[in-house]
Amino acid sequence: SAPLRLGIAGLGTVGIGVLRIIRQHASLLAERTGRDILITAVSAREKSKDRGLPLDRYDWEEDPVALATRDDVDVFVELIGGDEGPAKDAVEAALAAGKDVVTANKALLAIHGQALAKAAEGAGRALRYEAAVAGGIPVIKALSEGLAGNEITRVMGVMNGSCNYILTRMESAGLSYEEVFAEADGLGYLEADPQLDVGGIDAAHKLAILSSLAFGTVVDFSGITLEGIDRVSIEDIHAAADMGYKIKLLGVAQKTGRGLEQRMQPCLVPDSSPLGQLDGGTNMVVLEGDAVGQIVLRGPGAGEGPTASAVMADVCDIARGLRGPVFGKPAATLASVPRAHADLP
Ligand code: NDP
Ligand code: HSE
Repeated sequence: SAPLRLGIAGLGTVGIGVLRIIRQHASLLAERTGRDILITAVSAREKSKDRGLPLDRYDWEEDPVALATRDDVDVFVELIGGDEGPAKDAVEAALAAGKDVVTANKALLAIHGQALAKAAEGAGRALRYEAAVAGGIPVIKALSEGLAGNEITRVMGVMNGSCNYILTRMESAGLSYEEVFAEADGLGYLEADPQLDVGGIDAAHKLAILSSLAFGTVVDFSGITLEGIDRVSIEDIHAAADMGYKIKLLGVAQKTGRGLEQRMQPCLVPDSSPLGQLDGGTNMVVLEGDAVGQIVLRGPGAGEGPTASAVMADVCDIARGLRGPVFGKPAATLASVPRAHADLP
């Protein structure tokens, strides 16, 4: 078959990870998909930046929109980030130009996923986003393919590694929120705008995407009851520990008798439970279906290798001719209803 030609916009943590996988595993990828996977052109802000890899074998495009619409690009891979600006412009342009799109951009999908999915469907192209939720954990595939025979009853989990790191470290070191926040920021664990992490917004973006896939509803970020970890004190953590609990930023989406409930909030979870034992930057996603029961997925939710691994899963599926899951229908949007849980894993 003809090679699959990629245009990659964004050469930061994830973009460079994708370049590395394609360079290291060229023959493995070709064997698995039946096609050579080639990079035609790349784009980032600063051409002269040392990114630890030679880039001279790829064409350079200043403008991600120009990259996304090149005749010699089949798949536009968006790894810039942000729900507006160049990422959105380039994804829209790619779909309008009849390209398949792979993105890791949960902010873009949580806010504009519905419109972008419609554009992709209209163009008969793929819009794939495995890396957008829980980094290296293949949760989009598990939900949309592995559990296709189930009515999904609940999805939940810890989906922001930075918050989990902060809460875990506060407990283990007995440090205040402010002290650990400064430490995490210094280590480069937080988003450029840390409020996206500690305000629960990044995790809520991910929950909105999962929830839409699980329940066939529109991507409804604004319908999430949202509270971050920025008001969790060391006293709260000690009080929870005294009762045998940990505090986790937990996302829950489920259908109730009164509607679809979506919550992202600090929650008490039993110390000895799998969620309670989840330390550091790890993510855990729990999927429940009427036939399968409960599935627990655990793994790295961020970082170069894990996130690039998920991006490549999408690229490979496109190489195999698969289009991927679409988001749900507007009519299915229901009211958000807070509720307590006594049955956490
Ligand atoms: P980085 O900040 O490391 O990289 C962003 C890249 O985008 C940089 O190479 C930057 O260029 C480039 N860029 C910014 N603006 C433009 C522009 N106008 N035109 C062209 N290129 C531009 O981000 P990450 O790699 O961490 O994240 C990329 C995406 O992946 C985001 O959507 C993020 O949410 C998502 N993601 C990231 C994870 C992670 O662990 N890092 C995990 C899961 C998802 P330059 O380098 O020249 O500044
Ligand atoms: N800031 C995010 C996290 C990055 O900590 O989980 C991965 O999406």
